[in-house]
Amino acid sequence: MGFFDDKTDFVLPVEGRVEGIAKVKGQGKYAAEYKVDHVCHAVLITSDVASGTIKSINTDAAKQAEGLLDIISHLKKPAVPGFADETKIKESKFGLPVFYTDKIYFKGQPVAMVIAETLEEATYAASLVKVEYTVAPFEVDFSQAKNKVELKSAGKERGDEKSWSNSPFTVDQQYNIAAEIHNPMEMHATIAHWYADDKLRLHDKNQGVNGVQKTFSGLFGIPTDNIQVISEFVGGGFGSGLKVWPHVLAAILGAKQVKRPVKLMLTRPQMFHSVGYRPASWQRIKLGANQDGKITGVLHQAKNGCALYDPFSDGITRVTRLIYQFDNLKTENAVVPLNLSAPTWMRGPGDCTGDFAVESALDELSYQLKMDPVELRYKNLAIEKNPETGLPWSTNFLKEAVEKGAKMISWNLRKPTPGATTEGDWKIGYGMAVGMWNAGRNKAGAGIKMTKDGNIVLQTAMTDIGTGTGTGMVNIMHERSGISRNKIKIELGNSDLPPAGSQGGSTGLSSISGAVAAVCDALKLKLAEYASGSNQKFKNAAVADIILSDKGISFQKEGESFVSYQDIFAKNNLSTVDVEATSEAGEEKKKFSFCSSAAHFCKVKVNTKTGKVVVDKMVVVVDGGKIINQKPAANQISGAAVGGIGMALMEKMSVDEKLGSIIANDLAGYHFPVNADAPIIEVAFINKPDLNLNPSGAKGLGEVGIIGAAPALANAIYNATGKRFRNLPITPDQFF
Ligand code: MOS
Repeated sequence: MGFFDDKTDFVLPVEGRVEGIAKVKGQGKYAAEYKVDHVCHAVLITSDVASGTIKSINTDAAKQAEGLLDIISHLKKPAVPGFADETKIKESKFGLPVFYTDKIYFKGQPVAMVIAETLEEATYAASLVKVEYTVAPFEVDFSQAKNKVELKSAGKERGDEKSWSNSPFTVDQQYNIAAEIHNPMEMHATIAHWYADDKLRLHDKNQGVNGVQKTFSGLFGIPTDNIQVISEFVGGGFGSGLKVWPHVLAAILGAKQVKRPVKLMLTRPQMFHSVGYRPASWQRIKLGANQDGKITGVLHQAKNGCALYDPFSDGITRVTRLIYQFDNLKTENAVVPLNLSAPTWMRGPGDCTGDFAVESALDELSYQLKMDPVELRYKNLAIEKNPETGLPWSTNFLKEAVEKGAKMISWNLRKPTPGATTEGDWKIGYGMAVGMWNAGRNKAGAGIKMTKDGNIVLQTAMTDIGTGTGTGMVNIMHERSGISRNKIKIELGNSDLPPAGSQGGSTGLSSISGAVAAVCDALKLKLAEYASGSNQKFKNAAVADIILSDKGISFQKEGESFVSYQDIFAKNNLSTVDVEATSEAGEEKKKFSFCSSAAHFCKVKVNTKTGKVVVDKMVVVVDGGKIINQKPAANQISGAAVGGIGMALMEKMSVDEKLGSIIANDLAGYHFPVNADAPIIEVAFINKPDLNLNPSGAKGLGEVGIIGAAPALANAIYNATGKRFRNLPITPDQFF
């Protein structure tokens, strides 16, 4: 991974992740790795058919199997008050009411679960259970099913469609993207433990412990405080951990049934239909433009696949309402129910799908206009204000990002005529695209425990899915408090700690940084109060006058004359100083709009004999506000860009249309980029703080690394070959 550091506003030392050592030593425990006394093991039995009802479940042979503890199905399971009747099931919004229905919605749906002493015994016993089905017709073919649903308005229409129908330049094209599956290295797993009748502890892989807690509090009608959810280390999420999935409930029901802790880990093939995916999509973009490149109007229509039991809409047209000043704009969408499991948010959800269509159409237009694609972007970017809300951007450096990206890729080497650059059997092309994401901030809490040696533990319930939340918290705390990084320890991903929102939607650091700032201030005030016994100046001192160091507390610039923590703790007879604080967005939301953005540039080589595409160079310049952790931030962008290579060239959920099965459902069959498929991604940051969004000025950057990556590649392939691809993935066979 390489990254360009322009050092514009960077003061923190570039250091590694705080959890890095634990992770590489294998000490960072994932959900399934906790040792819980008396744990037993569960194995799911999943449907062999894609549609119908369960006719019978024969457990006779399985019941004789060694080590068997119990078998759960819709015929025998513990009570879930939240699933008491059809109305309650609907209201629960849980999606699939696992073991509370005999209906089959997709192939792979859990229909029963075997619990045994060991995983091997459970696996064997599960193989002995015979399930019979009444089979019904099914539909898994998105390309067919999409024609049966009607589009509906998605957002207020801007201007008038008729006003631009006679524009001198138009593009009217359709785009299709295959469903893609987030496959974090760590499979989803849950250890469920009812340690009292109404008290539950979960070691569970997820991106938000408080959300999981709330879901089961609702379903079981018990207080949230009775449910502890631990998700301290997460081996990748990409959105798969933002929802609470049926297997988690299955583990909880298992534990209730056998009155013992139950561990359930999904297999890799089960990951393909248990924890969501980016749904298949169809889009149409119709746009008009004047000779000077000003867009006169846009129509963006989109449909995405969903489950029969969960009408998930991916929000594909949202991004079209955000980046550009489109004065005439109509967006419409629809969901297409299929006999597949439920899709969900996956890295840059909706926006990276919609952005592919818009950024491809603009590229196509640039060739009609004979205008540089960069120039065309400049003419239409909404620089001053959010075109949707009309509010001024708090900060928006997308144009600067484009300028910098063009320099980094040497955009001047691009020839405007497709196919004009060749090197032997290779055709060379350059492409670009931009992406944007609404930057958000959620309510979040943080706590501090300080001991007399001046060491502090900084706590939050927020998870760290590998993005660097914990490292960011240390950096922010260090910068704001003056306490050395090595005196600060992190505890997170546990619902017993101060509550915080999920880590997703690029909101993690933006949200938690406010809480860290608030709790840091609370610590200063509390220490000042204790120190006022030794030094009167600290009585009612303002936060700005209080300076902390590794040794003690000083007033204003007193420097050497400080009250030591040793003193404070001794005089006040303290063992720890504990503070907690919560923070959330305030009035600034009414005054400003907030966005993160990225400019993507790439150079590709396409082999004329084989159709092989080599991504030769890839540059991503990001406006993510202030960069709190250079290394993990660049790492995030680089990973997202590689995800974009997967989206453009490889990834596809393959469904057998005759059987309704997901095929190639492992990491060998499902193609995604490995190191050999990706160049060193060159990442640069604008690194200008957005202090209206939160006290750290970080805007979030998890999503924008992928939003724009796929269209930049498709556009480069066009520039190389003159072949316009509007369907993803672009595989070698399609060149001939
Ligand atoms: Mo993500 S789709 O914000 O985990």
